[in-house]
Amino acid sequence: MAYNQTEVVLGGIAHIPLIIGMFYVVKALMYRGVDGKLAPFSFSYREAAQRRTSATDTATADVKPKKQSPSAPVVETASKPTPPAVPINLYKPKTPFEGTVQENYSLLKEGATGRVNHITFDLSGSDPHLSYVEGQSIGIIPAGEDANGKPHKLRLYSIASTRHGDNLEGKTVSLCVRQLQYEKEGQTINGVCSTYLCNINPGAKVKITGPVGKEMLLPEDEDANVIMLATGTGIAPMRTYLRRMFEPAERSKNGWKFGGKAWLFMGAPHTANLLYDDDFERYQRDFPDNFHYTKAISREQQNLKGGRMYIQDRVMEHSDEIFKMIENPKTHVYMCGLKGMEPGIDEAMVAAASAKGIDWAELRPQLKKAHRWHVETY
Ligand code: FAD
Ligand code: A2P
Repeated sequence: MAYNQTEVVLGGIAHIPLIIGMFYVVKALMYRGVDGKLAPFSFSYREAAQRRTSATDTATADVKPKKQSPSAPVVETASKPTPPAVPINLYKPKTPFEGTVQENYSLLKEGATGRVNHITFDLSGSDPHLSYVEGQSIGIIPAGEDANGKPHKLRLYSIASTRHGDNLEGKTVSLCVRQLQYEKEGQTINGVCSTYLCNINPGAKVKITGPVGKEMLLPEDEDANVIMLATGTGIAPMRTYLRRMFEPAERSKNGWKFGGKAWLFMGAPHTANLLYDDDFERYQRDFPDNFHYTKAISREQQNLKGGRMYIQDRVMEHSDEIFKMIENPKTHVYMCGLKGMEPGIDEAMVAAASAKGIDWAELRPQLKKAHRWHVETY
């Protein structure tokens, strides 16, 4: 039977809804990823579960989840609701939020070296609200200009308070800042931003950017195990985790019933330099089955070779228990503080692993890929 030109065109148009319908059927079969990410239909149930876990492995913020567009692919129902997005760069360097200093006090005890302060900023009035989660950082733009007459660049600082703030009202952020000081040609040089922050008075306005960072987020799993390796102000993110886990008022606020094992290795030059030590001692007393606190006081204790006691020496002492923990897929390791500690920790892990017949050079990238090895050093 022959068709004229008009009949052919009309017949073609009549098939369009059918073709669109088939396109959506194929799309629904192909796209089964989390958060609408492309995933081949053929991936196994196990892979699907892993994809879900890595998506929920990012900490949740008490912020509204992004709205899905009506055309977004249907996401498989996970056992827990998809976590809301982690807030990133709500305030950028060109449009920072001006927070107000609420308090600024020394964290050091008599006999300590240097200067380390705990500084809290009031975020009231930020719109959008400057929310953040444990493990993130914020940027600070110090007042004044650099040697070229240009505004100072921002410096990053790890957040030391939980998302609810130290007073649990959800409107503050705290930092733990060490004043940078070094000698050059017989002169003491003070770091620009760290000195600005350590000297700042309550009531002063400070330009804040961020939050940034997804490397140091805590897993959502209440049964996770968390090994923490910190030197100096690297304790800031660890304080947020430990408050979230063990500080009674914070626990009732967050409803997160941590039941895993947390182990903090903390390095400081003197006992008087240990930061937030009284709180951590209290957590260890109150939660002996869940929290272990090991200190390396470099200038008061000696390692087996007679040198300064560093956290990597403590890691070596406890390598058996540490590797037993790492064998458990629920264990995460977090390292924060001096960049210089990375090679030392790596050496300790190589030695500890080889004693168990494990090749650390192979295992570390695997842990990293599984989002279980978290490093933020500076
Ligand atoms: P600057 O005035 O910027 O001086 C720093 C510069 O001085 C260096 O770049 C180097 O050129 C020079 N310098 C430094 N030491 C020496 C030396 N011994 N000899 C010669 N020259 C030297 N800091 C904290 O206190 N707490 C934190 O929680 C924290 N978190 C951070 C998180 C991240 C992700 C990053 C990247 C950094 C973090 N820092 C933190 C470091 C912080 O960002 C600043 O780098 C630090 O406070 C110094 O800044 P400043 O403006 O005081 O020093
Ligand atoms: P030390 O300075 O005695 O050599 P702070 O930031 O308060 O000074 O604390 C940092 C801690 O980390 C200090 O005890 C310091 O020891 C220690 N430390 C310095 N270098 C390393 C390193 N390469 N690995 C591990 N710890 C280190």
